[in-house]
Amino acid sequence: SSENADAKNLRVKLVLLGDSGVGKSCIVLRFVRGEFDTTSKVTVGASFLSQTIALQDSTTVKFEIWDTAGQERYSALAPLYYRGAAVAVIVYDITSPESFKKAQYWVKELQKHGAPDIVMALVGNKADLHEKREVLTDDGMELAEKNGMFFIETSAKTADNINQLFEEIGKRLP
Ligand code: GTP
Ligand code: MG
Repeated sequence: SSENADAKNLRVKLVLLGDSGVGKSCIVLRFVRGEFDTTSKVTVGASFLSQTIALQDSTTVKFEIWDTAGQERYSALAPLYYRGAAVAVIVYDITSPESFKKAQYWVKELQKHGAPDIVMALVGNKADLHEKREVLTDDGMELAEKNGMFFIETSAKTADNINQLFEEIGKRLP
């Protein structure tokens, strides 16, 4: 048998959800383009980007990423994007307890209305702002554990854990 006998090419629809301003678009831009744009604009409706990564077992994963708008006025659109998504990434800002509450709302919403086998990740972003932290790492970890989610803290600004986030999701795909 060949060395690459179990190589696979996966295509995965991924949706990002979370409060406005938590950094969803910055996470995607960092992952796809390797950039951090300080002039990043509030997302209107949703935006789409894709990026392919290679895992260590020579599997490639093409992420088709729907970056949703967090502003309340767009909340009715969310189901259009999370329906049929294989992966949901729920993002909060570690300096904002309100955004952590919103993350809890999204967890419940996806459990009720998402695909039953959806892979969910919980992301505490803006980890570079540690002096302004108001959500403990343990609180994120606990929410994730209770709901069978993968948990990671990231910084789109410094790039800390951004690639790791997508690699870990890739490893957890069925
Ligand atoms: P909506 O599109 O309205 O849902 O917001 P969003 O979640 O896409 O937020 P966005 O990516 O536009 O980022 C909002 C603000 O947070 C911007 O001013 C970013 O510069 C800032 N920001 C994003 N990620 C980080 C981070 O990791 N660290 C710091 N310090 N700032 C960040
Ligand atoms: Mg955005």
